[in-house]
Amino acid sequence: MFNCIQNENHYCNLFNGNWISTEKTITIFSPIDDKIIGTVPAMSKEDIDKVIANSKTSQILWGETPISERAEILHKAASILEGKAEEISKILMNEIGKDINSSLSEVKRTAEFIRFTADAGKHMDGEAIGADNFPGFKKNKMSFAQRVPLGVVLAISPFNYPINLSASKIAPALIAGNSVILKPPTQGSISALHLARVFQEAGLPGGVLNTVTGKASEIGDYIVTKEEINFINFTGSTEIGKHIAKIAGMVPLMLELGGKDAAIVLKDADLEDAAKEIISGAFSYSGQRCTAIKRVLVTEDVADELVIKMLEKIKCLKVGSPEDGCEVTPLINSESADFVEDLIKNALDKGATLLCGNKREKNLIYPTLFDNVTTEMRLAWEEPFGPVLPIIRVKDMEEAIEIANKSQYGLQSSVFTQNINHAFYVANKLEVGAVQINNKSERGPDHFPFSGVKASGMGTQGIRYSIEAMSRLKSIVLTVD
Ligand code: NAP
Ligand code: G3P
Repeated sequence: MFNCIQNENHYCNLFNGNWISTEKTITIFSPIDDKIIGTVPAMSKEDIDKVIANSKTSQILWGETPISERAEILHKAASILEGKAEEISKILMNEIGKDINSSLSEVKRTAEFIRFTADAGKHMDGEAIGADNFPGFKKNKMSFAQRVPLGVVLAISPFNYPINLSASKIAPALIAGNSVILKPPTQGSISALHLARVFQEAGLPGGVLNTVTGKASEIGDYIVTKEEINFINFTGSTEIGKHIAKIAGMVPLMLELGGKDAAIVLKDADLEDAAKEIISGAFSYSGQRCTAIKRVLVTEDVADELVIKMLEKIKCLKVGSPEDGCEVTPLINSESADFVEDLIKNALDKGATLLCGNKREKNLIYPTLFDNVTTEMRLAWEEPFGPVLPIIRVKDMEEAIEIANKSQYGLQSSVFTQNINHAFYVANKLEVGAVQINNKSERGPDHFPFSGVKASGMGTQGIRYSIEAMSRLKSIVLTVD
């Protein structure tokens, strides 16, 4: 590792408060037009050892820093990020192909996230617990339970929200007194390194946030199995999440993984509203959101009418370059586009009715809608992470619940109905982290609890819950005679 000066083409890693690079680098291309955006260091296992040792040492002082001082730095970071929102959102757009409005909103939302975290951290009080309510104990004993940091948090973020899903790990970990090593997605690392710079400029002491870039296929297993790591906070695919859970050993984990969120539409739904929510939920950022609506389960009696309304809305989607304000944009890489194409082919082969789409230009896939999808088709179960949406017709609410729950995933679901009893009946039966009533599935606001069950994850995010997860209650017990 050697000191480096960031320039327009080469981006450096944050290490102990300085910017460093390596001989070996990785070139990042834009998914929009394949142009080179820049290079990032490809860190080696030896570099990672140095980073971990530095993070371990730096955490000690940071853990002792008063929470109000930690919060002040986070507030500064939030303001700096807000000030750079235009600049960083353009970088984000180029690097991951997200439309400019969504990119801007990701950056602004992240600034709010950091600010809210700083304030929430100041209210994470411990508690004093008396003993005499437990049989056999008297008033002479008391536990003083306070929240203490875990140590070094390894934050691993996915390509689709490299700013927001990096900060949603970094900020709660920092306010709780941990040091953080950020391993950003390779495609998304330039955006994430800009975020790291924001924390540095806000006055975060050296080593409290370090970044590690490099292909996970080369360094991923190495870093997640280092015993100095005290918590792994991972967002990404179910496949990689399960792999990390297997090899990481006895380290607490937070896993935010894939989803197959269902929109259940009942006969008493406001169909106009349902169609609007479903199309925006399924196709924004080309369906590359864990919380995108990934299947529609509609009762037969209203299916035809819903389909007409969905087709009307789909026609209004702008398809093309994110620079032109399009919301359906080229997918992150050609492997992802090939995967989506395979799912489309499988649905066609098995007799699904193609309503629109099935057109591809390089990595750009036009919004594709299928009717009469059956449970024999891959599209009924697999997460496309692309702009293709299956409609499965069901006879009633019970069948919708049954199919929804058969999925290996359990992130979110939506139910569309104007009957509050039906809404709560369905919501109570669904095996997911959250159910949205008459709304598309979505994560925000970011202080709400956000979790997945089954193959969708482990643990609960959301500002307060994330701080709790990345700290622990330490009890000091006083006994007086
Ligand atoms: P991914 O391929 O699983 O990668 C996620 C991150 O893990 C990247 O930083 C990747 O680094 C790293 N990684 C890969 N293998 C690793 C290993 N062996 N050890 C340590 N790190 C490793 O996922 P993605 O394609 O970026 O993101 C899309 C997926 O994320 C979708 O399935 C989506 O549903 C899910 N997601 C879930 C949520 C949620 O909140 N539940 C939110 C967003 C996304 P490299 O880039 O270097 O490979
Ligand atoms: O896929 C990432 C997840 O965080 C989605 O957030 O706000 O798009 O639902 P949102």
